[in-house]
Amino acid sequence: MEALLAATTPAPTLLPGAAATKEAGEHARLLDNALFAHAESVSSRFFGRDVYYRGIVEFSNVCENDCGYCGIRKHQRRARRYSMPKQEVVETAEWAFRHRMGTLMLQSGELNTPQRLKYLVDVVRAVKERTTALDAEQRSIDPAALPKDRTGVGLCVALSVGELPREQYQTLKDAGADRYLLRIESSNPELYASIHPPAQKWENRVRCLRDLKDIGFMIGTGVMVGLPGQSLRDLAGDVMFFRDLGADMIGMGPYITEAGTPVADMWQRQFGGVDKPAHMREMLTLTTRMNALARVTLGNVNIAATTALQAIDAVGREIALRRGANVLMPILTPTKYREHYTLYEGKPCITDTAEECQKCLNARLSMVDKKLKPGVWGDPPSFRQSV
Ligand code: 5AD
Repeated sequence: MEALLAATTPAPTLLPGAAATKEAGEHARLLDNALFAHAESVSSRFFGRDVYYRGIVEFSNVCENDCGYCGIRKHQRRARRYSMPKQEVVETAEWAFRHRMGTLMLQSGELNTPQRLKYLVDVVRAVKERTTALDAEQRSIDPAALPKDRTGVGLCVALSVGELPREQYQTLKDAGADRYLLRIESSNPELYASIHPPAQKWENRVRCLRDLKDIGFMIGTGVMVGLPGQSLRDLAGDVMFFRDLGADMIGMGPYITEAGTPVADMWQRQFGGVDKPAHMREMLTLTTRMNALARVTLGNVNIAATTALQAIDAVGREIALRRGANVLMPILTPTKYREHYTLYEGKPCITDTAEECQKCLNARLSMVDKKLKPGVWGDPPSFRQSV
């Protein structure tokens, strides 16, 4: 696995640059082509040309944590903090349902308070009720006649709101949430420690993921690719971590520097001398290699073509969809909030509306011979098989 990742990138650290010789470069291209073609054939076996959408609403950038890489960390003074009123989230959810998104992803900074828990419970309940009623109306049936477990009815609700105690996860599940996304960021505890403050423990993140799975959430996780100090062995370990955890969804993106964060300084110390655009192109390749490896190793899980890929290449997400990914996450956050949810530099689409994002993505899909599978939750077959 390391050898495949290393096709053009020398181990053990992510030193940038093309392969040393012409032959090595050719060898790398052949390996890449074989890996990507294999990943695409596995994806098409499970999903055909279908791509699932998860409309994402970044409902608050208030955060009590201090992840060293993130543009909305507590100590990032430039960030202007906002939280969307509940009603606005529910209206956005209704828009997502009417536009046949299937899944709504609610994402925010991390906040462990009773008020935030109540906010989430209220929003999840309201989104479920509202979109279930709309679904019954559209199908012209009595809501009582809808399937009992409500799977596939209304919007599937996914949460991405960070580390919380088990009881709170249970409360959110009971309120109706279906999925939970929590990236492990790195499966290597030492690397994790180097990019987080001491109070944020790798072990707690793993505890969260296990609790979430145990409670019955479909779980998503993932890592950043190209972190300072990260090795190809770490990345190979990440894929094994996803497999051992039994993740249903994987989201991986390139690490992108954000000025004023400690990890951006670490990156500068390690990679300061390199040609940055060339390095980032290399990271796009490496991230898509990771997607492809995850696809061939994990089979029928959902794999996202993440927004961060587009920050480094205008068609980064489309490239990923040809190399193992099968999920797109259109941003539905109302335009006025978008510029304040900048986790990293160059985050795309911050002046767009939800309509524009959806139209743009539909057009982009046809470029790579894929099509949206509208109005379905898009549960990973892996989850159905495991219950
Ligand atoms: N570059 C790339 N991804 C980032 N994230 C946070 N900051 C950055 C960054 N600078 C990712 C993390 C987090 C997700 C919400 O965004 O992986 O889990």
